[in-house]
Amino acid sequence: MTIYPPPSFFSAAISLSLLFCLSLPRPLHGLGSASTLATVSSPATATVCGIVAGEPNRRIECFKHGQRVFITPNVSYDVVSGGQSFFCGIRSGGCSLLCWDVATFTPKRVYFSESAPLREISVGGDQVCGVVNGTNRVKCWRGMKGSPQTPTWVDGFRSISSGFGFSCGILVNNSTVRCWGSNSSLAAEIESRFLDIPMDSIVAGGMHVCGLNSTGFLVCKGSNSSGQLNVPVNEPYGFKKLALGLDHSCALRQSNGSVVCWGGGGGYSSNVTQDIEFETLVGALNFTCGLITSNLSIICWGPGWLDHGSLGVNLPLPKILPGPCVQSDCAQCSIFPDSQRQGSRIMGRQRSGTSSTKHADRAEEFSFQELVAATNNFSWENKIGSGSFGVVYKGKLSDGREVAIKRSETGPRTKKLQEKESAFESELAFLSRLHHKHLVRLVGYCEERDERLLVYEYMKHGALYDHLHSKNNIEKHNSVINSWNIRIRIALDAARGIEYLHSYAVPPIIHRDIKSSNILLDANWTARVSDFGLSMMGPESDRDFRPSNAAGTIGYIDPEYYGLNVLTAKSDVYGFGVVLLELLTGKKAIFKSGNEGGEPVSVVDFACPAIMAGELGKILDPRVGPPESNESEAVELVAYTALHSVNLEGKDRPTMTDIVANLERALALCVDSQDNIPSTEIFIASD
Ligand SMILES: *[C@@H]1O[C@H](CO)[C@@H](O)[C@H](O)[C@H]1NC(C)=O
Ligand SMILES: *[C@@H]1O[C@H](CO)[C@@H](O)[C@H](O)[C@H]1NC(C)=O
Ligand SMILES: *[C@@H]1O[C@H](CO)[C@@H](O)[C@H](O)[C@H]1NC(C)=O
Ligand SMILES: *[C@@H]1O[C@H](CO)[C@@H](O)[C@H](O)[C@H]1NC(C)=O
Ligand SMILES: *[C@@H]1O[C@H](CO)[C@@H](O)[C@H](O)[C@H]1NC(C)=O
Ligand SMILES: *[C@@H]1O[C@H](CO)[C@@H](O)[C@H](O)[C@H]1NC(C)=O
Ligand SMILES: *[C@@H]1O[C@H](CO)[C@@H](O)[C@H](O)[C@H]1NC(C)=O
Ligand SMILES: *[C@@H]1O[C@H](CO)[C@@H](O)[C@H](O)[C@H]1NC(C)=O
Ligand SMILES: *[C@@H]1O[C@H](CO)[C@@H](O)[C@H](O)[C@H]1NC(C)=O
Ligand SMILES: *[C@@H]1O[C@H](CO)[C@@H](O)[C@H](O)[C@H]1NC(C)=O
Ligand SMILES: *[C@@H]1O[C@H](CO)[C@@H](O)[C@H](O)[C@H]1NC(C)=O
Ligand SMILES: *[C@@H]1O[C@H](CO)[C@@H](O)[C@H](O)[C@H]1NC(C)=O
Repeated sequence: MTIYPPPSFFSAAISLSLLFCLSLPRPLHGLGSASTLATVSSPATATVCGIVAGEPNRRIECFKHGQRVFITPNVSYDVVSGGQSFFCGIRSGGCSLLCWDVATFTPKRVYFSESAPLREISVGGDQVCGVVNGTNRVKCWRGMKGSPQTPTWVDGFRSISSGFGFSCGILVNNSTVRCWGSNSSLAAEIESRFLDIPMDSIVAGGMHVCGLNSTGFLVCKGSNSSGQLNVPVNEPYGFKKLALGLDHSCALRQSNGSVVCWGGGGGYSSNVTQDIEFETLVGALNFTCGLITSNLSIICWGPGWLDHGSLGVNLPLPKILPGPCVQSDCAQCSIFPDSQRQGSRIMGRQRSGTSSTKHADRAEEFSFQELVAATNNFSWENKIGSGSFGVVYKGKLSDGREVAIKRSETGPRTKKLQEKESAFESELAFLSRLHHKHLVRLVGYCEERDERLLVYEYMKHGALYDHLHSKNNIEKHNSVINSWNIRIRIALDAARGIEYLHSYAVPPIIHRDIKSSNILLDANWTARVSDFGLSMMGPESDRDFRPSNAAGTIGYIDPEYYGLNVLTAKSDVYGFGVVLLELLTGKKAIFKSGNEGGEPVSVVDFACPAIMAGELGKILDPRVGPPESNESEAVELVAYTALHSVNLEGKDRPTMTDIVANLERALALCVDSQDNIPSTEIFIASD
């Protein structure tokens, strides 16, 4: 944040970039609606922000407490909208939504999606809503706190506007108004007043909504506490822009851009606006601002603005765009310049060891409240397991998406906070830049006070470990995975995920904790590698890497790493070799010999001598049964691969690429041996 001294200059020229920014025929603007101008009405901090015209970047600049505030990141924005304590902007292209609390002006990314860009936003008292381009679906987020209220209609919205505790939108289908929000009674009340009136545009105020109906007449509904519904006599399309506040309404005349206000005890009919032609208006709680057509400067008026002692004086801001620009390509905003992220707490706390990690550019940020709601307050019933440094819960987001939510442990048994933070950041940093069909995708995260949560895609069929080692899995028909074909397919999928980490991620990544409980199965029984809490950047090429302390899980830890504290990609190969042995034998990595209470035996010591002796049949999982015809060649190939993968010395182990090649060959052998290649439908049906 940079605060400029009051400026003494105004560029006379309106640059080319301004000429290229067409003022689109958008809905009316006002409190809550996206525009190039936004106001924030929080007590004593009235702030006015706009998208600057005539510069290479369509950046945002604000005016607060008599000073100009330069907003970071210094990138291009399409539209801005303000509410009670914060304002938000859509970055050019629509892929990302950023919000700033006017107390600090620290940017906070609320939404990011390249596939579902936003075309409109509206900030109300307690939430921000956006319309996704294409689908016209509305998404809402809490602003800086509280829970979001998202409309449940599947139908698309043409435009939306937010007031205090509610938002309304116009349905694409038949132009009727629907409202939702934290004050559901108010939302329902306003919606019922608009019942079946087809509307062209709407703008929300404190507790009322105005707009033009489909024949162009100005209509206002809702609270009339100060006469704010008392619209002036009007002819069709007599007005073009609206700005509503707590208890007042203002509109611009179509004919000459002059302003007329009503309600609010008459305090908005100011002589300072006389004879001025405005381009657009924006409303705040108890003041209104307008963009003057002749010189694109801003003036504000109303009882709330008097407090700032500059009634009717042009704000010392540069020229502001008269209307939103034509959208540009998403690619422009997918990269968040590093230098602009100082405000981000995630960046601020990175360990030196992972300083080259990137931010969670593709991850959504959730509020703790949202995740509390999604998991029924982290109820015992929702608990589905535990990963490194946390408990995992099943959750359902308000928009219906099923997710797995990992919450860092709290309470007396919590590891040192620093360690927890490291795991959180490490996983967030890694996952957010990894996209592969055999890696579990990170959906988002939450970082509030001491809470650190990661939100993942939900993996319907859970961990491979649970299927292999379930007490209920006694004989062949008990589980889908009691088939060599499927076990080899699972091995291949997981191997591809790890190979991606080692060979295609830049820089390469060593997972450090490959085990069957970190291999998850989605609804189609496709295996995906999860749990990057212990991950580290791998060495470029094959140089050794010495992390400060050993990590991993007993039974899967590379003996070389365990003994010498030398970590290479081959450590993951060892862990994966153990997983292959689990798949072959059905035994845990470490299991008790005999029935109960025997000596602990590692699956490596159990299986490898038999594989070497060519007595594979002795150790194969009896629940799957002996391999048939070509299957036996496939299973032998897997066993041979596993044997090599758990070699004591890393240099003698294959690479993940070698393993993928072997498993591909094994699967091909298996599939050839069957008349029908199992399809995903069959997998699902057998669940
Ligand atoms: C305008 O609203 C702000 C915020 O609620 C309040 O602090 C201020 O007193 C109001 N001013 C007037 C004149 O009503
Ligand atoms: C903002 O970015 C633009 C384009 O990258 C640059 O020309 C301008 O100098 C920057 N402004 C500031 C204050 O950093
Ligand atoms: C929205 O979609 C339209 C048509 O598909 C396209 O022309 C426009 O650029 C898109 N806007 C954004 C913000 O993606
Ligand atoms: C609105 O559009 C949706 C999807 O196009 C359709 O399913 C629905 O029936 C429509 N509703 C009305 C009232 O036309
Ligand atoms: C909700 O709206 C009603 C009017 O419908 C109003 O009386 C009430 O104060 C509002 N509640 C909150 C919490 O703002
Ligand atoms: C408009 O469409 C909505 C949902 O599609 C429907 O509930 C409503 O009855 C329709 N209204 C009119 C006037 O057709
Ligand atoms: C629009 O509002 C005007 C004035 O209230 C009314 O006469 C007209 O019938 C309305 N049009 C529609 C389509 O409801
Ligand atoms: C709103 O209140 C004013 C008085 O303040 C009254 O004249 C007007 O009729 C009311 N309008 C509506 C639509 O209730
Ligand atoms: C507006 O009216 C006030 C008094 O009501 C007066 O002091 C002021 O000079 C007027 N300003 C203009 C620009 O006419
Ligand atoms: C704009 O037009 C309205 C009526 O249409 C008139 O009352 C007003 O004086 C005009 N204002 C200017 C600045 O021309
Ligand atoms: C912009 O225009 C308004 C109205 O014509 C005028 O009062 C103001 O002084 C102008 N501001 C600048 C910076 O030229
Ligand atoms: C399962 O497979 C079907 C068809 O290939 C695909 O459409 C679906 O997205 C897959 N589901 C998951 C969870 O990957």
